[in-house]
Amino acid sequence: MSRKRFTAEQIIRILWQGEVFLSQGQKVSEVCRGLGITQQTYYRWRKEFGGMKVSQARRLKELQRENTRLKRAVAELTLDRWEGEIDLIRASFPERPIIASIAGGGNPHEWQEIVRRVEPHGINGYEINVSCPNLGGKEKGEDKAEQDTKAMVLAVGWVKEATELPVIVKLTPNVTDIAALAQAAVEAGADALTMGNSLSGLGGINLENFTPLPTVVDKGIIGGYGGPGLKPVNLRCTANIAQDMPTPIFGCGGIERWQDAAEYMTVGASAVQICTAVMWRGIQIIQKLAKGLENYLERHGGNSPSALTPITCL
Ligand SMILES: Cc1cc2nc3c(=O)[nH]c(=O)nc-3n(C[C@H](O)[C@H](O)[C@H](O)COP(=O)(O)O)c2cc1C
Repeated sequence: MSRKRFTAEQIIRILWQGEVFLSQGQKVSEVCRGLGITQQTYYRWRKEFGGMKVSQARRLKELQRENTRLKRAVAELTLDRWEGEIDLIRASFPERPIIASIAGGGNPHEWQEIVRRVEPHGINGYEINVSCPNLGGKEKGEDKAEQDTKAMVLAVGWVKEATELPVIVKLTPNVTDIAALAQAAVEAGADALTMGNSLSGLGGINLENFTPLPTVVDKGIIGGYGGPGLKPVNLRCTANIAQDMPTPIFGCGGIERWQDAAEYMTVGASAVQICTAVMWRGIQIIQKLAKGLENYLERHGGNSPSALTPITCL
């Protein structure tokens, strides 16, 4: 029986009824049978609503509505800030391409509204983030969008519908069959792929207060594991997808030296992206890395990754 069919008030009334049955000596299994719910639902409801009064549930609902409204307002503010930032970057680097990295929810409006707002500011393409391990998930009552091919395909379609600019789809390594996910993205209209985002990870446990780490706003979270440890995983994924399709790929994951970038290129990436190494060691590493890569490519007979001897992995 799905919780969605019951209002908070109804659940609280059912739980009260359950308390009465329990006080009459019934076992939980009998109480649940009597209430027409599974034990799993009973314990989930009790965790969420146990001991609450109907008035408190109403207040909770009001607060949830207010929360949704505030989230929308914050999203608006974020977009306002982005528009200003893109203008600044465009003015500072008029010749350089700007790729907007965007993410939305499970509806066309969120994705297309971002496109509508940022496109007039002179961007050259989109990278759509359908791969963040922090997005979606049980808390939002959604499937993990990053691993849900159907959700990914829909998001790609919505963005393609709203723009003529190239759309890069950033994939997750958190799947069993990366080639199938990549194929689905390309069939949905991806002009290029980024392989990829971080692995889903749990940073550790605080052994004194038993909270998961890292702690964000008083809550331990499942987060993204990036940096050097991610390289073998995303390098393998890049090799897997490049073997099967000609779509351009941005390699990403654990790149901190020019050699790492070159390795991604030998397995099929046309360009690379870096996050953790820049956070740790500063943006200046890019220049050193680009120089090392340029020298390496020249030594191998060209100034483009296509000059490299492609590696085929079994
Ligand atoms: C603090 C942090 C924030 C990130 N935020 C985003 C994001 O907003 N969108 C996205 O597509 N990837 C995001 N990522 C993932 C990185 O872009 C990158 O795909 C991943 O960390 C692997 O690359 P790396 O090993 O060079 O860090 C984030 C990573 C970190 C560490």
